[in-house]
Amino acid sequence: MRLLILFCFTTCVLSSEKISSPRIIVVGSGASGIAAASRLLDNGFNNITILEAENRIGGRVYSIEIGDYLVDIGGQWVHGEKSNVAFELAGPLGLLEKSSDSGLKFNHKIFGSSGEVIPESVATPLIDYFIDNVTHIYDDIDNLKTGSFGEYAEAKLYEYFKNHPEITTDQYQPLLHSLNMMRMEEDAASDWYEVSARALRDFEGCEGDHEINWKNRTYSTILDILMKKYPNPEKELPVKDITKLNTKVTEIKFDETPIKVTTADGQEHFADYVIITPSLGVIKKNYNKLFNPPLPEKKITAINNISYGGVAKIILHYENPWWLNDPIYGRSIYWTEEDRKELENDPKKKWMLGVHRGLIIEHKPKLFLLWVCGPYAREMELTPEELFQDQVKQLVNKFFGKAYNLTEPTIITRSLWNTNENFLGTYSSHGVKYYMGDAHIEDYAAPIMKNDKPVLLFAGEGTSTHYGMVHGAIETGWREADRIIIYHTKNE
Ligand SMILES: Cc1cc2nc3c(=O)[nH]c(=O)nc-3n(C[C@H](O)[C@H](O)[C@H](O)COP(=O)(O)OP(=O)(O)OC[C@H]3O[C@@H](n4cnc5c(N)ncnc54)[C@H](O)[C@@H]3O)c2cc1C
Ligand SMILES: *[C@@H]1O[C@H](CO)[C@@H](O)[C@H](O)[C@H]1NC(C)=O
Ligand SMILES: *[C@@H]1O[C@H](CO)[C@@H](O)[C@H](O)[C@H]1NC(C)=O
Ligand SMILES: *[C@@H]1O[C@H](CO)[C@@H](O)[C@H](O)[C@H]1NC(C)=O
Ligand SMILES: *[C@@H]1O[C@H](CO)[C@@H](O)[C@H](O)[C@H]1NC(C)=O
Ligand SMILES: *[C@@H]1O[C@H](CO)[C@@H](O)[C@H](O)[C@H]1NC(C)=O
Repeated sequence: MRLLILFCFTTCVLSSEKISSPRIIVVGSGASGIAAASRLLDNGFNNITILEAENRIGGRVYSIEIGDYLVDIGGQWVHGEKSNVAFELAGPLGLLEKSSDSGLKFNHKIFGSSGEVIPESVATPLIDYFIDNVTHIYDDIDNLKTGSFGEYAEAKLYEYFKNHPEITTDQYQPLLHSLNMMRMEEDAASDWYEVSARALRDFEGCEGDHEINWKNRTYSTILDILMKKYPNPEKELPVKDITKLNTKVTEIKFDETPIKVTTADGQEHFADYVIITPSLGVIKKNYNKLFNPPLPEKKITAINNISYGGVAKIILHYENPWWLNDPIYGRSIYWTEEDRKELENDPKKKWMLGVHRGLIIEHKPKLFLLWVCGPYAREMELTPEELFQDQVKQLVNKFFGKAYNLTEPTIITRSLWNTNENFLGTYSSHGVKYYMGDAHIEDYAAPIMKNDKPVLLFAGEGTSTHYGMVHGAIETGWREADRIIIYHTKNE
C-alpha cells in the first residue's frame, strides 16, 4: 500500500510536470537562441521548438573549412575577460589563448595606393594612439557640435599629425579615411560621424585582453559548450532535435492565447511564450509585417533609432604565404585622394574603398584576412564572383606587390552577411541618433506582457548592453530564459 502511494506520488508529479511544461518557441538559432533553449532544457522545460530560417544553426557564429583550417566567417575573438560569459565558459576548458600568450605583437605598417609605405616606427604608434587614446575617450565630449565620434576623432588625429611631421599633409585625408573604416570594424556603421562619442565613452566593455583567440578552433565551439556537447558529448542537450531548419517565421500573432507563429511554408505553430532573436537589422526591416498587433511605440522608436550596419571579411588562403619574413600583425592601406576620387566614380570598384587593412590570423598561418567596412561591405557582396576574385588579386598586388614577392592565393572567400535577408548586416551600435532619438536599449529588450505574464520576449546581440558581441548575445538568451523560468515557477 505504502509502496503504491509512493509510486503514484512520483508518477503523478512527473506527469503533471509534463502536462504543465509550457510551449516555448525560440525564433532563431544563433548564440542567443541556443543559449535560451539550452537553459530552458536544463531546467526541465521540454516543450521547446527553435524555428530557424537558415539551413544551419549558429547564426552570426559560423565557421567553414578553408584549406586545412576551420575559419570564422562571423564572430572570431573573445573580447575581454571580466564579466564575459564566453570567456567564463571557454577559458577554464583551455580552449582560449590570450594575445599576451600568443606572442602576437600588435605592430603595423601602412601601405599607400601610390606605393608608399609608412614604416612600423610611424604606423604602430599612430594606430596605438588611435586605439588607446582616441577610441578610448578620456576627454570632455560635452562641447562637441555633432556629438559624433568622427568630430572627436578628427580633432584628436589632426593634433597628433601636427606633432608628427613624419606624416605628410597629403597623407592626412587618406589616413583619416582608413582609420575611419578601421573603427567601423567595431561599430559597423557607414562612417564615424554616425557613431556617438558618448556611446564609445559609456560602452560596457569587459576588462582584460580583447583579442582572445580560439587557437585552431573557432568561435563555433561556444555553441557546443552551450548545448553541453562539449566537453562531454554524452551530456548533449537535445537542442538540434528541437530545431526546425529552413523554417522562416513570417508572422507572430501575440494577442491570441496561445500565440500563433506562422512560417513561410504556411505552417502554424502555437506557443505560450515566444523568444525573438533575429538581428536588429531583420527586425527593423520586418517588424511591421512580423508582429500582429503592432509593437508598442516605445519599442519601435528604440528599434528604429538603435543603429545596425555591416562589415565583411575576405579571407585569402595561400599555400606559400608571402608575409612570413615580415612579422607584422596589421597591414593597413590607404588610397591617395586622387585614387579615391577615381574609385568613387567607378561603381564596380568603389567597394575597395572599404578595405582598410589585412590581418594575419592566429594559429592559421596560411590565411590573410581583409576587412571591408562601411557601406562598401554590401557593395562588395553584390560584386559578381569572377570580377570579385580578380579585384581582390589586383588590390593585393597594388598595395603589397612592391614590398613583397607575392605568391598566388589558392582560395579567396568572402562573407555575405549584408545581402542575406536573415541577417541584413553584422551588428548593432549606438549612434548619434540613439541619443537624439530618445532610444533606450531597455525598451527594445523589454518583454511584452499579457496580464503580467511575459509572452513575447526579446533577446539577441542588439538587446544587450554588450551589443555587437557573442557574449552579449548569450547573456540575453539566458536573461529571457530565466524570465520565463522565474515567471513560470512562481505562477503556474
Ligand atoms: C563578420 C562578423 C564578425 C564578428 N566578430 C565578432 C567578434 O570577433 N567577437 C564577438 O564577440 N562578436 C563578433 N561578432 C558579433 C557576433 O557574432 C554576434 O553579436 C552574435 O553572434 C549574434 O548572435 P544573435 O543570437 O544575437 O543573432 P544571430 O546569430 O543573428 O541569430 C539570429 C538567428 O535568427 C535567424 N532568423 C532571422 N530571421 C528569422 C526568421 N524570420 N525566422 C526564423 N529565423 C530567423 C537567423 O538566421 C539567425 O540564425 C561578429 C559578427 C560578424 C557578422
Ligand atoms: C507540447 O505541447 C503540445 C500542446 O500541449 C502537445 O501537443 C505536445 O505533445 C507537447 N510536446 C511535448 C514534446 O511534450
Ligand atoms: C595615451 O594614453 C595613455 C594613458 O592611457 C597615456 O599614458 C599616453 O601618454 C597617451 N599617449 C598619447 C600619445 O597621448
Ligand atoms: C588542434 O590542435 C590540437 C593539438 O594542439 C589537435 O589535437 C587537434 O586535432 C587540432 N584540431 C583541429 C580541428 O585541427
Ligand atoms: C624577392 O625575391 C628576390 C629574388 O629572389 C630577392 O632578391 C628579394 O630580396 C626578394 N624581396 C623581398 C622583399 O623579399
Ligand atoms: C527616433 O526617435 C524620435 C524621438 O523619440 C522619434 O520621433 C523618431 O520617430 C524615431 N525614429 C524612428 C525612425 O522611429
